[in-house]
Amino acid sequence: MNYPQQLTDMIEQYERIGSEGRHLTLPKKFIVTHPAFFRGIHKLRGLKQKKLAELCPGIDEPLCELYEYMRSRIVHGKDGEQTGRDRNLPGSIEQILNNSPDITNLELLQIPECFENTDLAHTAASVKYAWEIGQKELSREKKHINEHRQKMLMAAIIVHDCAYPKTENFKDFTSAETRVKHMENAVIEFKYFAKKIDEDYNKIHGKPYFRNVMDEVCHIVEQHDKPSVPTHERFRDFFAMRVSSEIFWVHREADRLWMLDEAGFALDLARRLLEDNPWYNPEKYLNHVVKQHQKESKVYIGRTSCRQFQGENTLYRTDAGFETFKRLVAERKADYCM
Ligand SMILES: [Fe+2]
Ligand SMILES: [Fe+2]
Repeated sequence: MNYPQQLTDMIEQYERIGSEGRHLTLPKKFIVTHPAFFRGIHKLRGLKQKKLAELCPGIDEPLCELYEYMRSRIVHGKDGEQTGRDRNLPGSIEQILNNSPDITNLELLQIPECFENTDLAHTAASVKYAWEIGQKELSREKKHINEHRQKMLMAAIIVHDCAYPKTENFKDFTSAETRVKHMENAVIEFKYFAKKIDEDYNKIHGKPYFRNVMDEVCHIVEQHDKPSVPTHERFRDFFAMRVSSEIFWVHREADRLWMLDEAGFALDLARRLLEDNPWYNPEKYLNHVVKQHQKESKVYIGRTSCRQFQGENTLYRTDAGFETFKRLVAERKADYCM
């Protein structure tokens, strides 16, 4: 068995309750799982199935094509090698389910599939947040400028996490090297996808779609995770030379909101079940996420626009992003009865 004995013991004591078979309890000294946990896990699959036009109604067709390139890259990997984080997650979860005698219904057997290609679920949710926040925050200028800024933002968020290098464990995943590499890789992939899409677009429209945002999109993608790169604090904010800071802010906020999303939150709770010392504590985890989102503001050079939550600055610098943050915190509290 590859998973910890402690977890095996816990799972053998599962007792399924509730009419929908979704609500599982563990012995009180350990954990209580919530229907919201299973709802979140199942939402992972729903997110992966959605087309871009469903997530962002009215978005341009070439961006929909870009989204499908990104999907293929995440699902099939590169040169026959599957990359991305969480490659071990479906198998580990499956082992747990197989060894848990109470978990027999069809819905629960579908769970391992929910844990495949988690980068795609993350991207789908981030894209939706970016679209919603961007519509509100980037619409103060003239129409053509707005459209240009939206195009930059959406192209960047679509590809931003499409090319994680293969990592063996969580330590590798959070290393500075992986953080930097996945940004560099995503830039390379974006250039390749954009070129292919533009070849066809040019034939019909007489001009390429992505050319006028190429540099800016690359600039955002190659920096998007900089605040998370473990290096000297002074170098951790964005250096937005060519791109308006607001676009970086919306991109980062949409990216981070995943941790509070119904699906993203459940996924992170599930990851904790597979740690060497497994734990399940939604309240503790929510507090951790909020703290992280406050802590990140400390690496920003310009902090005057950081919105305050519970008396402390947060990474949120736009009205719409901050409102979404507060809404999601309240939803998770209600979901997990805090
Ligand atoms: Fe990233
Ligand atoms: Fe991301």
